[in-house]
Amino acid sequence: MPCGGRSSRAPRSVLGSMRRIFVVFLITQLPHSKALQCDPGEYEINGECCPMCSAGNRVLKRCTVNSSTTCMPCVDDTYTEHPNGLTECMRCKVCDAGARLMAKEKCTYTKNTVCGCAPGDFCRHPAGLDCEMCSPSTVCLPGFKVKISGTEFSDNVCEVCPDGTFSATNMSQACQPWTRCEEEGMTEGKAGTATSDAVCVKRGLSATGLALIIVFLVLIVPVVFGAVYFLWRRKKRKDGRPPAQDIGDELNEEVMENLIRTRNTGTDTALPVQETTKNSGTSTLHSP
Ligand SMILES: *[C@@H]1O[C@H](CO)[C@@H](O)[C@H](O)[C@H]1NC(C)=O
Repeated sequence: MPCGGRSSRAPRSVLGSMRRIFVVFLITQLPHSKALQCDPGEYEINGECCPMCSAGNRVLKRCTVNSSTTCMPCVDDTYTEHPNGLTECMRCKVCDAGARLMAKEKCTYTKNTVCGCAPGDFCRHPAGLDCEMCSPSTVCLPGFKVKISGTEFSDNVCEVCPDGTFSATNMSQACQPWTRCEEEGMTEGKAGTATSDAVCVKRGLSATGLALIIVFLVLIVPVVFGAVYFLWRRKKRKDGRPPAQDIGDELNEEVMENLIRTRNTGTDTALPVQETTKNSGTSTLHSP
């Protein structure tokens, strides 16, 4: 009967699978039971548990039944970052200058080197907090502004200055609007560009105009004043009033006076002679 046959086979298959499970149990558990479960702070070596060496140290001599592990500090460019059972310290990483890398954090006996980028670079290929390759950051040139500032791990993003604005320096944070000369009461001498402001000039007098006026005043004014003075003096003389301060005229007057005086004295000496000849009886003489 198919039903009875099935029920009679069932116990056998159960036993068989139990046997198989036991074999699998033995296979999996036997090596496991042999493996030592060392405490934290211990490491397994040749089926025994030995105390670990602390970070910055390595194992010089494994422990024995009578002695603990002998540890030795790492030297030179080596390190161990964690408590360990290593017989050699790990070599410190060298930052590859060819990938523009430099040591951001120097290696210590307990910590590996952390590589980073020089100022002006950003990390193009990060590896956690470490970097594997740097690239020069984009410089936002005059005519652009920094749209997004770069970070240690990202490049700058630049944006061209919109029309009517300018930036004159590298890495400008903003574009400045051109100066509106009309609003400042001036006229535009030079139009603004993306990299330079508009140049305004004062309305009316320019610098050269002012200079010309000064030269004109310096040269022309004394000539005009001199001419006016000359005419004024001539007009006064024509009016019959001799000018008070005229050296030439004074000299003339002096000469005339002297001439008159000498002529007078000349007649004085001559007259008595004539008088004596005319009036010989009188001895009254006009003596000077
Ligand atoms: C602006 O950046 C360019 C490109 O890096 C550089 O050649 C130039 O010397 C910089 N100019 C100034 C004023 O820093």
